Amino acid sequence: MTSGHENVTTPGADAARVPAQPEEPARTFDIDAVMLRLTLAQKCSLLTGRDKWHTQDIPELGVPSIRLSDGPNGLRIEGGPDGTDASCPLPATAFPTESALANSFDTELLRDVGRAIGEEARDAGVDVVLGPGVNMKRSPLGGRNFEYLSEDPLLAGKLAAAYIKGVQSCGVGTSLKHFACNSQEHARMTSDSVVDDRALFEYYLRAFEIAIREGRPWTVMPAYNRLDGVYCCENERLLSGIARGTWGFDGLFVSDWCGQSSNTSSLPAGLDLVMPGPRPDYRRDVEKAVRAGTIDERLVDDAAQRVLQLVDSCLAGRRTRISADMREHLDLARQAAQESTVLLENDGLLPLPDRASVALIGEYCRTPHTSGLGSSEVNAAVRDCAYDAFSELRCSSEDDTTSTGSVLYARGYVAADGSTSEVLLQQAELAARRQDVAVVFVGLTPHAESEGYDRLDLRLPAGHDELVERACAANPDTVVVLQCGGPVEMPWRDKPRAIVLQGLAGCQSGAAIANVLSGRAYPGGRLAETWPQTLSDTFLAGRFPDTHRRVVYDESMFVGYRYYDSVGADVAYPFGHGLSYSTFRYDRLRLETVGGQARPDAFDEDDLSWLRRNEIVTSWDESGDTDEDGPSFGAPVRVEEESRGPGAAAAVPRARFEGDVRRLAVTIDVTNTGSRRASEVVQLYVAPIEPGMYCPVQELEGFAKLDLDPGQTEPVRIELSRRAFVPADDFAARCA
Ligand code: GLC
Repeated sequence: MTSGHENVTTPGADAARVPAQPEEPARTFDIDAVMLRLTLAQKCSLLTGRDKWHTQDIPELGVPSIRLSDGPNGLRIEGGPDGTDASCPLPATAFPTESALANSFDTELLRDVGRAIGEEARDAGVDVVLGPGVNMKRSPLGGRNFEYLSEDPLLAGKLAAAYIKGVQSCGVGTSLKHFACNSQEHARMTSDSVVDDRALFEYYLRAFEIAIREGRPWTVMPAYNRLDGVYCCENERLLSGIARGTWGFDGLFVSDWCGQSSNTSSLPAGLDLVMPGPRPDYRRDVEKAVRAGTIDERLVDDAAQRVLQLVDSCLAGRRTRISADMREHLDLARQAAQESTVLLENDGLLPLPDRASVALIGEYCRTPHTSGLGSSEVNAAVRDCAYDAFSELRCSSEDDTTSTGSVLYARGYVAADGSTSEVLLQQAELAARRQDVAVVFVGLTPHAESEGYDRLDLRLPAGHDELVERACAANPDTVVVLQCGGPVEMPWRDKPRAIVLQGLAGCQSGAAIANVLSGRAYPGGRLAETWPQTLSDTFLAGRFPDTHRRVVYDESMFVGYRYYDSVGADVAYPFGHGLSYSTFRYDRLRLETVGGQARPDAFDEDDLSWLRRNEIVTSWDESGDTDEDGPSFGAPVRVEEESRGPGAAAAVPRARFEGDVRRLAVTIDVTNTGSRRASEVVQLYVAPIEPGMYCPVQELEGFAKLDLDPGQTEPVRIELSRRAFVPADDFAARCA
């Protein structure tokens, strides 16, 4: 997907090189032959790492070690003489974090980003990239939410699967994490997520299921926490029962670092590899247990075989000769940031006129906030900023004859802690007053979002709020740009003429925002997470993170929009919301069965009704008999009234058909009715016809993104499987 032409170039791309791949001959070995020659002690040595980042090698049998490394939005290779110094990771391309990328609703983009990270991993000699993270966002206060994709499991699962395919297309493995219900950072190593089965299978595990079934990750990383009383690293139901038994996962389970809990229960539960190594205690205890007959040696064989299989896959991967083009990756990082940008509000101020003079306010326009803290943080080899990007755009007008508006800068606050002063505020007011438009960059402080602890509130730094108020008072033509990895409260929300969410937009956030605000690119994002008005509107207000050891998920699956829609709560911006620089029309909604027979009069084309909504709800009919192959789609199609943001009209035909329908294809024509090229995200929600069923009011069951020129019409086809319609009380079928 292209997002328009970008005028802002990418300085210093050559500086972004990751170290050249060590020339290590890709040796192969015969797994079965090696298994026959391994002693028990050697097998047990394979079950833990050799060191912090490598698996155990067995040189005498020709088995090399392979290297694992973070992270989900860019390569993070720890520096120092032995590669374990977390304070100085090697430089790499820093892509937008997952919480930003998910706003793109673009599986092709996630695949491209995955491929780019895989290329840099290959160049740097990394064999497995520890990502993506797909945990659901139980509360917007979750410390690692910036690292996770969405509050919706379908969106998270589909995007994760695409990312996995992208990385693995380079012969580099991935590690889907953190499996499962890692929903808070507080006491993450000991807390016990107590989740009912409905919520577990229909909500918390679904993204993992989709990513495993469709992405086929080489590894999955069990989480630190307990799930229903049992640590994930030794949770047989989770690892062997559900992932392997029900979903058919045939890869390797690698513990989170220092996350393995028991030396005798982990292996029988299905854990294959304990990291980091070396863990002589683990090797010894497993060997003792085998000799004592308390652990079946066949379990050791299975795990050792999976380790060898992973090593072999990585060796084969090393034969795929690819190399990272760092300038191309920087261009991709910019494109990704643009496609993930969400236009929350715009009364027509955007895109800015070429000649408008601009006041860039807030230190984040010079030192952008582009990542949270922890193992996903990337040492960006190249990092631009909005100030430089705007200056370049403003000074290099298209035809060099017309002078374009000037750029003024005002610091506004101190980036390190968000504090401000009367002097800084007055300087900002002066700049805003002098220029045609004020663009105020605000966001969370660098330490607000991190692995290891949760957010305390949803507020921006007080200095940022004050700055927005003062800038808007000085110049009503004000745009606010948000740089944060999750929702924030905006008490000034009705004051600026436009509000743009960049998220944590990576190393090209400056060029991206300059292109989007100037109209050289367009905002392609839709919210992958609900933005509540205030923390007190959230279901877990006042009790997240839960400081008890047992964290009871009493909200079940009613998380995010599943909660707000079901209770009819107002939110600042709903899941799926995002404005555009153009307008769209939806025409000719068609339903067709895929497999099975539909009656000829199934569709009554005259029964169209035009409504201004950009979502179509396909429901199942309570009266329809559920035949042995699943429910019939006796589904009149209706459209929800509530808004997910302005969208094109939706056509609503009545459809009714019987038979052993296996899949339902929903097709609709989308037309760009505006004057600018833009992208649209068609979102398909499923809801029960009759109220009263114990399930969310509606759930996303399909989405598709397309870029259209003015006047262009394209059909969008989304196929729904039977899973989308299985009555909520038949959730076991959903797991089939
Ligand atoms: C960390 C994280 C995990 C990361 C691993 C290696 O504690 O939980 O996401 O991949 O350890 O750094």
